[in-house]
Amino acid sequence: MTKTDHPFLAACRREQTSYTPVWVMRQAGRYMEEYRKLRAQYGFLELCKRPDLATEITVTPVDKLGVDAAILFADILLILEPMGVGLEYSKGDGPILHHPVRSGKDVDGLKEFKVETELSFVYEAVKKISKELKNKVPLIGFAGAPFTLASYLIEGGGARNYIHTKKFFYSAPEAWKRLMERLAKLIGEYLNCQIAAGAQAVQIFDSWAGCLTPNDYAQFVEPYTKAVIDAVTPGVPVINFSTGTAGLLKQVRAAGGSVIGLDWRVNLDDGWAAVGDDVAVQGNLDPVALFAAPKEIKSRVAEILRRAGGKAGHIFNLGHGVLPETPVDHVIAMVDAVHELSAR
Ligand code: CP3
Repeated sequence: MTKTDHPFLAACRREQTSYTPVWVMRQAGRYMEEYRKLRAQYGFLELCKRPDLATEITVTPVDKLGVDAAILFADILLILEPMGVGLEYSKGDGPILHHPVRSGKDVDGLKEFKVETELSFVYEAVKKISKELKNKVPLIGFAGAPFTLASYLIEGGGARNYIHTKKFFYSAPEAWKRLMERLAKLIGEYLNCQIAAGAQAVQIFDSWAGCLTPNDYAQFVEPYTKAVIDAVTPGVPVINFSTGTAGLLKQVRAAGGSVIGLDWRVNLDDGWAAVGDDVAVQGNLDPVALFAAPKEIKSRVAEILRRAGGKAGHIFNLGHGVLPETPVDHVIAMVDAVHELSAR
């Protein structure tokens, strides 16, 4: 099989495949013993910055789970570190940025840098992973979307209500525009460097876009996500992923992407109808469903496949990343169920 006729890439192009391809967001993570063992020895940033370790972490779940794609081991916040914001992954609290952006002056004070050189460890990892995968499955590269990255820059970490972020675009729309344009340019270049190194598809994570009103998304977010997607090397599938956006799917679709991510808060067929059947979709099992018994998992997989109706252009995934406490056997049961029940 050549790289391009792999079921995952074919489904991205909405071609008919002999079964529904499946992969899992955060498939390389803490629910897996192999990852926890490495993590006991190294800091998270060190794992991201060591191409040999990032390769091992990326490749391990491919064999163990039998998934149809690998996702680069890295993090969406790595691109913020060279801006001089003081990125730290603290135990228990999640990521922290010690110098958040709260004004136009702060935006202009962000350090300029070249993604080609400052993030070269990522492209080294992509090259190493591609070599290691030997064409078995395609490799997905990724980046955070401008909005989700801006929310970390402005809040200084995770947030519940995004008050600082929203206040920023309410009160300083010009500075917001400068920040988003700058992020969009960097993200587009970063994705293209990953593609040049061997990534065969890319996913844009707009994980927190679901906090927005449809109008705010259209005005303050969509143009910049669209700029990123338009900048991606032609012919490379782009997965536009977000969560909590069941009420924003028309706007999310307008931002672009060959594949639109759907989370579990919408039925797959309703979500697909909302984005239009001229685009592929990815999703949408509730990550918590993997805590149910394998028999229940299988029946929920069957329900999603029934809603997909065997239509070309469905990539099976969770609606968000696999949770750290998830039993690995249950993830394998899900992957097996997708392959078995979708065979055609
Ligand atoms: O999907 C994959 O397996 C690829 C690797 C990957 C990670 N993070 C590894 C990671 C990807 C694609 C991400 C994306 C990411 N990172 C997002 C968007 C996706 C999502 O989950 O919504 C976000 C918002 C981040 C930022 C981030 N990184 C947070 C909020 C945290 C802490 C909370 C958490 O889930 O642990 C991280 C750390 C992180 N990124 C870990 C991993 C495996 C855990 C680090 C550890 O080992 O302690």
